[in-house]
Amino acid sequence: MSNHTAVIGQPIEHSISPKIHNFWIKENGIEVGEYKKISLNKEDVKSFLEKCMSENYKGLNVTVPHKELVFELCDQASPIAEKLQAINTITFSENKIIGDNTDPIGFKNSISSNNQAKYIENKKALVIGAGGSARSIIYQLQLMGANVVNANRTESKSEKIKKSLNINFDICSLQDIPVILKEIDFVVNTTSLGINGTNNSLVDFDLLKENSYVYDLIYNPKRTPFLMNAEQKGHQVQNGLQMLILQAAASFKIWHGIEPQISDQLIKSLE
Ligand code: ATR
Repeated sequence: MSNHTAVIGQPIEHSISPKIHNFWIKENGIEVGEYKKISLNKEDVKSFLEKCMSENYKGLNVTVPHKELVFELCDQASPIAEKLQAINTITFSENKIIGDNTDPIGFKNSISSNNQAKYIENKKALVIGAGGSARSIIYQLQLMGANVVNANRTESKSEKIKKSLNINFDICSLQDIPVILKEIDFVVNTTSLGINGTNNSLVDFDLLKENSYVYDLIYNPKRTPFLMNAEQKGHQVQNGLQMLILQAAASFKIWHGIEPQISDQLIKSLE
């Protein structure tokens, strides 16, 4: 076995990364095995990485909840992965585990391709949630010139992100969201509220500044009630599918040296 790629996480059943990578592997005629999804307990991650190395794997994507643990297990990490202390892309090279993180670039490209930058530079952005995805997004929004406010159920997690990223942003409680909405140009939901039809009523879109941009990282369902409510109130909306595809594209480029195409056919195959 050699040159394989896969995604590790837990739970992993829902992951559509294999569909994306296998589409591009086929489209580009790359001679690697099928990209797989592998469910791993925390305790098994280290030995699995060693196994991959001995079996000449090309690389792995890493998803929840192993991104931070894998950072600890890497021999080298890119500057951005060092900053985030989280890995979503591993490359095995010369007996070394090299870590990178393509989430911020995936988020950035998902925005620039749709010309939403005007909602970000020197504007106020509200990021809801303080998990792994929020960390990448806060970092990237800040780089793009936004004034970020982070709101999370567990406020200490926002403080933790602020400390570890060593950047300045405001923090508020979920209860305080209504008070600041009239100043917000860009809202991102990074919480899991909305997956599998759960309700997300953290934002009253009547109170949000007019004509704002509302982004939900969830892509299944395609339009969460959160996005539907925002759209009904005249805000522009976007789900998380483009970011997922674009972070995958960046991983694909790292491993295979090819910039894969984001074709309509690919997007159709994911629906
Ligand atoms: P990811 O890596 O995708 O960001 P995560 O690290 O598990 O996933 O983060 C999930 C986020 O959803 C967290 O910010 C979590 O809030 P807590 O930090 O308080 O746990 C948020 N979240 C999950 N369920 C929630 C709920 N019922 N209400 C509010 N926030 C919730």
